[in-house]
Amino acid sequence: MSDRLSNPLRDPQDRRLPRVPDPCALVIFGVTGDLARKKLLPAVYDLANRGLLPPGFVVLGFARRDWGDGDFEQLARKAAQEHARTPWREEVWARLSGNIRFVGGSFDDDAAFDHLASTLDELRETHGIPGNAAFYLSIPPSAFPIVLKQLERTGMASNAKSGGWRRVVVEKPFGEDITTAKALNDLVDDVVSAEDVFRIDHYLGKETVQNILALRFANALWEPLWNTKYVDSVQITMAEDVGIGSRAGFYDNTGAARDVLQNHLLQLMALIAMEEPTTFEADEIRNEKLKVLRAITIPADIAADTVRGQYTSGWVAGQRVPGYKEEPDVPAESTTETYVAVRLGIQNRRWAGVPFYIRAGKRLPRRVTEVAVLFKKAPHLPFRTDDAELLGHNQLVIRVQPDEGIMLKFGSKVPGTAMELRDITMDFAYGEAFTESSPEAYERLILDVLIGDRTLFPDAAEVEEGWRVVDPLEAAWNATTPFNYRAGEWGPRAADEMLARYGHTWRRA
Ligand code: BG6
Repeated sequence: MSDRLSNPLRDPQDRRLPRVPDPCALVIFGVTGDLARKKLLPAVYDLANRGLLPPGFVVLGFARRDWGDGDFEQLARKAAQEHARTPWREEVWARLSGNIRFVGGSFDDDAAFDHLASTLDELRETHGIPGNAAFYLSIPPSAFPIVLKQLERTGMASNAKSGGWRRVVVEKPFGEDITTAKALNDLVDDVVSAEDVFRIDHYLGKETVQNILALRFANALWEPLWNTKYVDSVQITMAEDVGIGSRAGFYDNTGAARDVLQNHLLQLMALIAMEEPTTFEADEIRNEKLKVLRAITIPADIAADTVRGQYTSGWVAGQRVPGYKEEPDVPAESTTETYVAVRLGIQNRRWAGVPFYIRAGKRLPRRVTEVAVLFKKAPHLPFRTDDAELLGHNQLVIRVQPDEGIMLKFGSKVPGTAMELRDITMDFAYGEAFTESSPEAYERLILDVLIGDRTLFPDAAEVEEGWRVVDPLEAAWNATTPFNYRAGEWGPRAADEMLARYGHTWRRA
């Protein structure tokens, strides 16, 4: 009997075992920014806490600060204490804190990048890290070119020169339209090979989003119904109760469509609509997603089948909040949308004729992201009309967040002497079905970068397809003004009217 079979613990293919990366360094550019403090550094702590980091591991921060390792360690500690998912354990931090390094400098400072390169080289001796490093670009897209050029100039991004693996992690937004996205993709291509680029769309790191593929392809139940014959429509909602906070500089040039429709929401749509991949390999899954992204059709009449909105002041969760134009640094004449709703289609045999209604907005009544598949009504009801009048569409609702789970809605007899019918729900809640809590998206994605698993990362072609959908909408909206909606309302009335024209209503999420 082979060693592998006699000792399954040694089976490298066994994905049930915790996956731990090789000794490596995680270099974060922009460590003082929001993303690094609220998500990346806490995720590193959570991974350490779960024992998922290798013994040889270093976090190397880079920013324009005159700091030593200790200053960065303080920042990282505070970030982890404030934002980590798992409980604080001093002994975990004690181990990690010895492996935190900082290099200060601006992006045009050659000497600082030379210093970064030599610091990485030294890790071979000091930490037994044989050249492996991931470079996380947690910086504004305008700084990508200069940082990529520095990585190229110093040879830091080269696998061959480092003797280990070198990977580059790019945060969205991936460009602001197809032209800039292509230019960015070309730029990255010049510096690292495609398999060493990891584009982060953090929605793909969410457990509930990964579970869409399990729901669809691990079960026999849905597949016969998952098509235009039985599906009436699909609704994808990403509602946030927060406003834009201090991100006016970014948000006012971006708007809801570029911020979340182009990426998170189209990815959700692709996972719902794609065909079954031949295997669960990264390339197979991406090919299937890409096929469906390519088949997405934008409305023939963009003015009629899309709605943009902008919030005015109002009340959210008992708090009085300012309107978008009153937020700090937002121009008084801004026409940027904070809400978007669109009716998309998919031109293939499975989905022809099924509308995909997608909406996203800030300052809506509450935070909820969900995908609802609404099935067609039964072709005939052998009941008295007034007994069945309360019946709606059967629905399968994937609650992405915050109340993670899946809900099935169907008609049932109300107990009693009459055949009275009403919709009821059957619920699966993550919190009740599993004892372990779900990792944060960034925990999963950082781990995958360090392991080199690209399954949950969109490739350049997917990003470009996202822009193929969004660019024409942006062009059509160019000279238009968004509708207003009061903060705390479910978007502009025009979004309800858009669905009403097709006999639909938004699900109360
Ligand atoms: C980001 C957007 O990608 O996702 C933000 O830029 C948005 O505007 C955020 O608030 C929402 O993420 P989540 O995980 O809280 O749904």
